[in-house]
Amino acid sequence: CGIVGYIGSRDCVPILIEGLARLEYRGYDSAGIAVIGRGKLRTRKVKGRVSQLGKDLPARLTGPIGIGHTRWATHGVPSEENAHPHLDSTGRVAVVHNGVIENAEELRAKLVANGVEFVSETDTEVLAHLIAAVDCADIEEAVRRVLPEIVGTYGIAVVDARQPDRIIAARNGSPVILGIGDKELYVASDVMALVRHTSQVVHLEDGEVAVLTADGFSTGTLDSRVTTRQPTTVDVEDPDYHAEGYGHFMRKEIHDQPAAVERTLRGRLDERFGTAHLGGLNLTPRESREFKRVKILGCGSAHYAGQIGAQMIEELARVPADSEPASEFRYRNPLIDPETLYVAVSQSGETYDTLATVQEIQRKGGRVLGVVNAVGSSIARQCDGGIYLHAGPEISVTSTKAFTVTAVDFALLALHLARVRDLSPADGQRLVRGLLALPERISDILQLEDRIADLAKHYSNFQNVMFIGRVRGCPVAREGALKLKEVSYLHAEAYPASELKHGPLALISPETPTVAIVPNDELFDKNLTTLGEIKARGGKVLAIAHQELPSHLVDDTIIVPQGEPELDPILLGIPLQMLAYHTAVLLGHDVDHPRNLAKSVTVE
Ligand code: G6P
Repeated sequence: CGIVGYIGSRDCVPILIEGLARLEYRGYDSAGIAVIGRGKLRTRKVKGRVSQLGKDLPARLTGPIGIGHTRWATHGVPSEENAHPHLDSTGRVAVVHNGVIENAEELRAKLVANGVEFVSETDTEVLAHLIAAVDCADIEEAVRRVLPEIVGTYGIAVVDARQPDRIIAARNGSPVILGIGDKELYVASDVMALVRHTSQVVHLEDGEVAVLTADGFSTGTLDSRVTTRQPTTVDVEDPDYHAEGYGHFMRKEIHDQPAAVERTLRGRLDERFGTAHLGGLNLTPRESREFKRVKILGCGSAHYAGQIGAQMIEELARVPADSEPASEFRYRNPLIDPETLYVAVSQSGETYDTLATVQEIQRKGGRVLGVVNAVGSSIARQCDGGIYLHAGPEISVTSTKAFTVTAVDFALLALHLARVRDLSPADGQRLVRGLLALPERISDILQLEDRIADLAKHYSNFQNVMFIGRVRGCPVAREGALKLKEVSYLHAEAYPASELKHGPLALISPETPTVAIVPNDELFDKNLTTLGEIKARGGKVLAIAHQELPSHLVDDTIIVPQGEPELDPILLGIPLQMLAYHTAVLLGHDVDHPRNLAKSVTVE
């Protein structure tokens, strides 16, 4: 979920709505604002997108102070009632909240026993009632008294119609950032909502409460100790928000990939010595040699990009490496080993499961590098060093260019680690050349779009699709299936090609086609055997390959250019992005904002 607030002399409504639009990547089930104008608190909420919220606004909904929220449902269905801001029963106090209140049921039961009537099913509503019930005229003090009762995570902004000259903000586990303007202040859950207005920001720490007025801000701890915070300058670009001629952000971002890969490589390759320079790692060559394992952690596409990365690192640097969903890792009391290099992967840098994983590893003395796109994001700030993707903003909920660029950055990391260990200069140079050739090879694959759009017409008629790949092809298949699920809502299952005959072959029939990743590598013949097993069961096959395959083994083939075998997984996934995109368009779905999802899940 995303929060935003404004206090100053201008009308806050357009500022809040514009800020919320930039935070929609955190959720878009419902949205709302609360505004205080002429001493009266008014709200407007909608089920659905922020653009709906901005339509047909009542004229009296204006004022110089307000808060807003865009939601990804945790407690209660997406609806107008469950949309934030939440108010107390008298409509005096309004609260927007990110995070999860774990003892909400208990608090709610107590309030109900005292006669409070709830209008929503959310955990947040308890906050509004609790704050309003504190017998104290000062809203800051009321918030301070309530927060110690809350178990769970929160980033909140609170306004009170009785004190229309201030916003109270507080943080525990969910980011809250103050933006300092000229006689106006902002608060938001990330800098993207602020960059249009100011570059001066203050990141609240856990356990801090802030009071914002038009003239300035103060911060302190829950027990009222003053914390003195100096604003820092953020250097984040105000991104271009248009899908231009591409129709959708997903398509634009697929087509952005050659440029994004070029950007991420810029200045980082050394052709002469066949190595990569990654200054942000903060690792000396000796440190790079010393650790014994690499553990990569991320969620969703970030995890699959991490699987590609783990294979590259193990193959090139000969260090055992694996990737695990951060969401699982953080809950299984993992062994944290000082000789392991931990790598957290996140496009947004705000995924809560990944952030909590980084903190848990650090708490146990581990060192974590970040592979992150959003500069200055929570995960980037928390890590001990890392690699920025420089992929540019990714707006479409389903990841395309960030996935590809993450895989490229893992190739850089693998090359760097390999060259301080055993990889020869000649192999290093071969990989540098392969990396430099990627943008052009991606451009060649993008030329196949019309043909892939045609294939989508056929494959969008099936309800179930199997994706398979062997070893290097396996994470490519997994990401391909995830793309199709996310945007087309077709059921897609990914399996290692080698495992098909051990169970999922039972699913294969003329009604369930298989998308097979069949690169020209040392496992080519094994893959052909698997295709034979599928054909023998009447299954259809769409192959992603480097050459035409025997016609009795495939129905359709998409041929992509062949590069260095270790880098080919980066290229093999790109046709699958286009397949998912065109399937979703044909089925008439909201491609950039698939149902039930958020670009970044910033709650538990
Ligand atoms: C959400 C999105 C996925 C994304 C994942 C990780 O679940 O829907 O598309 O891969 O978060 O996001 P991150 O920003 O951490 O890479």
